[in-house]
Amino acid sequence: MIRGIIFDLDGVIVDTAKYHFLAWRRMAKELGVNFTEEENEQLKGVSRRGSIEKIMRWGNIQLSEAEIERWMAIKNEWYLEHIATMDEGEILPGASDIIRQAKDAGLSISLGSASKNSRVILERVKLIDEFDAIVDGTVVSASKPDPEVFLTGAAQLGLPPEDCLVFEDAQAGVEAAINGHMKVVGVGSPDILGKAHIVIPNLEGIRLQEDIINKI
Ligand code: G6P
Ligand code: MG
Repeated sequence: MIRGIIFDLDGVIVDTAKYHFLAWRRMAKELGVNFTEEENEQLKGVSRRGSIEKIMRWGNIQLSEAEIERWMAIKNEWYLEHIATMDEGEILPGASDIIRQAKDAGLSISLGSASKNSRVILERVKLIDEFDAIVDGTVVSASKPDPEVFLTGAAQLGLPPEDCLVFEDAQAGVEAAINGHMKVVGVGSPDILGKAHIVIPNLEGIRLQEDIINKI
């Protein structure tokens, strides 16, 4: 029986990919490499370090460990400048409603995100108080598709993984939920998220019980 919901953040609750894109593109430009929106798509769900490593590979550049650390810090400063302008208007359609439906149904809710900026984002969009647990990149070390982030979320809710339902927009995130023996709703394209138990294009108009839990 589903007793807990674990939400990914970026791409499920808020669309921060556009801000990641601006910050990574600015870094890439300074390093003299091209960085496209298509490449940015491939960074969804990928940790900050994993992302810079991919950009280095695509741009065919090498950086020392110290330079990698420095660029990750600079990129994050630029990213945070964008985040600082966010407000509730940037919550993705349907996200607040699904959270409300979960709470009304007596389900516990956790965040399960790779981001180290999740708390500041949830504060900006005024959702931070809705979560019973917040598990993010500051808490876990293994990246999705490793299930650590979701298993930690389930543990913090005091639930077995089998009783948890994950909402994810990234392929690695869907795999992480499956690896953690959880049910998973893919939010996005079935071409990318086909391994999920259910795929929906977005959260708008979704009835948690009828459209998801009863069908999973
Ligand atoms: C999410 C996003 C990724 C991002 C990662 C780390 O998974 O989808 O694009 O790289 O979080 O985010 P951070 O805010 O810690 O740089
Ligand atoms: Mg995501």
